[in-house]
Amino acid sequence: MSKYKNTENFNYGLDKIFPEADDFLPLLGTDYVEFYVGNAKQAAHYYRTAFGFQTLAYAGLETGMTDRTSYVLVQDKIRIVLTTPMPNTEDNAIFDHIKKHGDGVKVIALWVDDATKSWEETTKRGAKSYMKPTKETDEFGEVVRSGVHTYGDTVHVFVERKNYKGPFMPKFEKWESAHNPSEVGLRYIDHMVGNVGWGEMNVWAKFYGDTMGFANLITFDDKDISTQYTALMSKVMTNGNGRVKFPINEPAEGKKKSQIEEYLDFYNGPGVQHVAVATNNILETVKEMTARGVEFLYVPGSYYDTVLDRVGEIDEDLTELKELGILVDRDEEGYLLQIFTKPLTDRPTLFFEIIQRKGAQSFGKGNFKALFESIEAEQERRGTL
Ligand code: FE2
Repeated sequence: MSKYKNTENFNYGLDKIFPEADDFLPLLGTDYVEFYVGNAKQAAHYYRTAFGFQTLAYAGLETGMTDRTSYVLVQDKIRIVLTTPMPNTEDNAIFDHIKKHGDGVKVIALWVDDATKSWEETTKRGAKSYMKPTKETDEFGEVVRSGVHTYGDTVHVFVERKNYKGPFMPKFEKWESAHNPSEVGLRYIDHMVGNVGWGEMNVWAKFYGDTMGFANLITFDDKDISTQYTALMSKVMTNGNGRVKFPINEPAEGKKKSQIEEYLDFYNGPGVQHVAVATNNILETVKEMTARGVEFLYVPGSYYDTVLDRVGEIDEDLTELKELGILVDRDEEGYLLQIFTKPLTDRPTLFFEIIQRKGAQSFGKGNFKALFESIEAEQERRGTL
């Protein structure tokens, strides 16, 4: 069976397609997501206060890190790292990244048992090396990392931490603060979406298939994802055990400029479009985040007039969903609730999705139209439609 076989339904019998034992890149999950930002101290305050992330670790001049300052935040299984370059360095890669892209995701780190083998298996299959296997040690043990390039300037770092007991990794110290806003119920990363250029979706889907052993879970063509004006195409790639899912979007021809093109213009190339995080109670999570100042995409009130005809019975109160602008979709296995923030940076690039799965394993195809019309209304206001 071809590993690029398109699983038309949302059958998660991936273990049958890729028995875990044959997976040459077994992934334990997402280890962390690192954002390169202009001011990590202030970004950390935002993600703690507005998103409910908790302090975990810090690295900077005080800990022997001279070329950057990093704050590590945690909420349940989600770890994010916010990094700013320090001026006393000749290595300007972080500066260059921010100058070109604005604040954005640089590293999608994947948790592995063997970072050396992960690097060998992926590079021998054609992935370009970003970091050779590198061991760092301190009094808490050792962490081995390696990395490969993916779309744009984004990279994957493989993290092996089975022999490490510290708060994050060497050169980081535990970070405590007197200001500790509570969590908002975010639990784990459900998927992370990359936007790539015209005609590149298949190139990068093949990259994940060839070099990392991922399978194509589902494909959305421009007929699935189009409005009167704009269109895009998407392929969802997943690793063998289904813990890591990367949808890859590319723009498609429409009457006006696709939101993917807008992203590519403002990010100056391919990059991470959104990070989808799961919650067990989307009503409470979104209520809390809204109260803390997070802005979500507006959904036309008319969406709720017909939504139950499409998705059938749901546990939640429709009035509450409407008030918050939460979307609903159903597949053969159940339903899901989802909502999207507005871009989190001044450039219309990166945003977050909050998702609650109640059986459904899909990605909200039934919401694409309503959602994209909402995004287009925002594009119109920016004059970039
Ligand atoms: Fe998503």
